[in-house]
Amino acid sequence: MPTSVLFVCLGNICRSPLAEGVFRHLVQEQCPSSDYTIDSAGTGGWHAGSQPHEGSIDIAEKHGIDISGQQSRQVLAKELSKWDWVIAMDNANRNNLLRIGADPNKTKLLLSFIPPGYNREVPDPYYDGGFDRVYELIEQGCSYLLDFLESENDTLT
Ligand code: 4NP
Repeated sequence: MPTSVLFVCLGNICRSPLAEGVFRHLVQEQCPSSDYTIDSAGTGGWHAGSQPHEGSIDIAEKHGIDISGQQSRQVLAKELSKWDWVIAMDNANRNNLLRIGADPNKTKLLLSFIPPGYNREVPDPYYDGGFDRVYELIEQGCSYLLDFLESENDTLT
């Protein structure tokens, strides 16, 4: 069974598409034989059907990752139980996920995987920019998340 991971932010055009692309890339690079189902969504639906923000597309491309084919979508309450892990970019979105029924034990902040595991948030670059810093945080968070999931899979096999 693949391990399934859903990344969630507000609009699904800036942070979570980047997290989806970075995580996919890390899996391909570091553990290509591992089986993951990876997606992203937003708690809000305003941008449904849109491509990621050009700031996210550009910073991803700078790091050799193409996220231009992604399309924004809103998360559905009924899908939450099918994901092994739901990874939120900030507390507001995590709280909204919990409000619509997400399991708190598998609904985590991305940056909580970075030691010492405090609940830092990925800032929203939609209004103020800062895509370089956002990329850096997401890359670190995804890297620790992958280590965590791989070690979890090791203990299960
Ligand atoms: P994201 O950024 O949650 O990282 O995709 C935002 C995108 C759109 C809006 C807010 C944040 N918005 O208000 O439309």
